[in-house]
Amino acid sequence: MKFSLALAALAGLEVTAFGRPSTGVQPRAEGTITYVDQETGFTFSEYKAAFSLSANIVFRFALPSNAPSGPYNTVIQAVVPNQLGWIGLAWGGNMVRNPLTVAYPNGQKATVSSRWATGHSTPGAYTGATYTLLNTGNKVNGSHWQFTAKCAGCTTWTGTSGSVRISPTGSSRLAFAYSTGKAASPSSNTSTIPVHDTPNYFTNDFSLGQNPNFDALLQRNGISAASDGVVFVDGPL
Ligand code: HEM
Repeated sequence: MKFSLALAALAGLEVTAFGRPSTGVQPRAEGTITYVDQETGFTFSEYKAAFSLSANIVFRFALPSNAPSGPYNTVIQAVVPNQLGWIGLAWGGNMVRNPLTVAYPNGQKATVSSRWATGHSTPGAYTGATYTLLNTGNKVNGSHWQFTAKCAGCTTWTGTSGSVRISPTGSSRLAFAYSTGKAASPSSNTSTIPVHDTPNYFTNDFSLGQNPNFDALLQRNGISAASDGVVFVDGPL
């Protein structure tokens, strides 16, 4: 019984990655759409980042409605074709001096790794952002791997030109990188990773992923407010 439920869930994953749109998909703006994830309950802004003529990495971002004026938490979800060994998301839209969310498959889940680059070489660990995997939305099937993690520290940082804060109700340019090469130690969040193929950029409209019940949804997915900054599945580094 458990096994067939798991298979059904994974089949659903494939449908949401490339198949017919689910009832939760409502196109609203060029590039970014709103996606309601039935599994986690979060409303995400979603961008399908094409890395070849026929394949996408799906990036999703859920934010709290009425985010505080300083740092605020997010939930990031990505659905990645199995041909890719790692992916990276650069919150500031370039490689250097901004939070990098790096992930690679590790058995039936993914390892999420917090990184920061000071140049065009392997990024080091970054303690300014921490990730906690939700207890749903983390899985691997025959075609894709998917992670869903809360990030504390992804939306504010000190960059090359000073303090940066992503507007929770606006659009900003992000960058992503990927490789078919695998992480050397997939269970470690400080694994070395091979250099990426050509990186690329997209503009994400964060206003399409607002959640009035953000903290309640985190709780429903196994992350209590009390665990903020205390329990980290994959960090801090
Ligand atoms: C494995 C370690 C990595 C190495 C050795 C590496 C190396 C490089 C190099 C040499 C370039 C310059 C390419 C050119 O000018 O033609 C570059 C650019 C870039 N890399 Fe990486 N990189 C690594 C990891 C990452 C990660 C994890 C990200 C996260 C998203 C990333 C994002 C980018 C982006 C967006 C660019 C475009 C130029 C820029 O924004 O600076 N890289 N990288």
